[in-house]
Amino acid sequence: MKSDKTVAEVKAEEAANRLAIHGGAAVRREPLPLEFPGIHYLDEEEIDAAVRLLRSRSLFRFYGVDLQNEAVAFEAEFAQWLDVRHAVAVTSGTGALNVTLSALGVGPGQEVIVPAYMWVSVIAAVVNHGAIPVLADIDDTFCLDPKSVEACITPRTSGIILVHMSGAPGDVKAIRQIASRHHIFLLEDCAQCNGGSVDGQKVGTFGDMATFSFQMNKNMTSGEGGCVVTNDLRLYHRAVACHDVGYARDEQGRLVFSEPDYCLWGEGYRLDELRATLLRVQLGKLPRIIAAMHRSKYRIRKALEAFTGVRLRRIIDPDGDTGCFLITIYPDAETARRVNRALRVEGIVTCPQGVSNVVMTDWGLHLYYNVPSLVNRTSIDGRGFPWKLAENAGLERQYAKGACPAADDLFARSIILAIPSCLTDRDETDIIEAFQKVMRATSLSAT
Ligand SMILES: Cc1ncc(COP(=O)(O)O)c(C=O)c1O
Repeated sequence: MKSDKTVAEVKAEEAANRLAIHGGAAVRREPLPLEFPGIHYLDEEEIDAAVRLLRSRSLFRFYGVDLQNEAVAFEAEFAQWLDVRHAVAVTSGTGALNVTLSALGVGPGQEVIVPAYMWVSVIAAVVNHGAIPVLADIDDTFCLDPKSVEACITPRTSGIILVHMSGAPGDVKAIRQIASRHHIFLLEDCAQCNGGSVDGQKVGTFGDMATFSFQMNKNMTSGEGGCVVTNDLRLYHRAVACHDVGYARDEQGRLVFSEPDYCLWGEGYRLDELRATLLRVQLGKLPRIIAAMHRSKYRIRKALEAFTGVRLRRIIDPDGDTGCFLITIYPDAETARRVNRALRVEGIVTCPQGVSNVVMTDWGLHLYYNVPSLVNRTSIDGRGFPWKLAENAGLERQYAKGACPAADDLFARSIILAIPSCLTDRDETDIIEAFQKVMRATSLSAT
């Protein structure tokens, strides 16, 4: 068929389609906003709350000259938000994991199943308790594959840590069933998915216990911070004991020495009043923060659905996705790398050194084989703890690349893009246009 286009029009079209990486004009010149979801909503409200708290000169949660009980109030409000009975505020997500594993009684001679895609703190908490981490593979949800979990279970398995990664929930109902069938614990790490849900039920309420982080990259933040939640009163008392000085507290806040099961060892993760007051304000904003990221992400996802050569991460329940990351999957590693390089030169980056848009193999300590201490079975005492403990004899596991083939394949072929909570229509359009331009040039387009 004869084209009606003039030579000038054809040339203009060619110039518009020429990738920036090949000398064409980039889709955008301004860097994208940095991720940090809660930070973009931080305003006078947090500042007023912090000043009020400082004026009270009562920074400690248990007593002060004019105690404001901010940590107590935050725990009650966070528990109510999740619809869970008990919450213990702590100083970090890592602290929350340590407290939780202590409350659950994890120690030498036990295996704990962890996902190939997580954050290093998850494995560190298991190792620091003297137990052996067992890597289970992921599927295209980028969270635990129930089939792999089932295959990892042995008579020594004491529990499963399901990490709801990159903003969206894992298949928590399937994993819950496995844990119940084998009478082992399920711990949900919700650090990256605060506010996520499955069929209307919030993540963090499916397992025996759950942990949250309020570090600056998370959906709500006080810079650092964390929380442990549970519906189980015994586990709650044990978590209270471990996060503080080793003993549970009664309703008046007095230490309890009469219950042997609650007389443990303290780990010193108490949250201070200043951060608790910030978290109360951020919690009030969390639904808006999530709604903004969700809206942006699903506008971009919808546009990408037109491209047959690209697969999108499988989302268990799109309504329960907090939206803070978009993962796209390509036919092979070479294509993923080419697309990523081209997208970055089109301006889809936060700043030159930003990790907001990378092939997942560059995603650092989230990938099991990128954690040298795990691959090398590093020990803190220099004598092989916990790997060489007599109780752990025979619990040999592989941690080098190759241990989780589905994860290895997905990491190599996938790009992760952060979705900031403050994207404008223009930012979203630029992201979509950059993808469209690169897809067309990479023959991944059906259109
Ligand atoms: C999945 C996951 N678990 C635990 C943590 C640890 O949280 P924190 O940095 O507050 O110690 C993080 C933090 O990045 C995380 O992403």
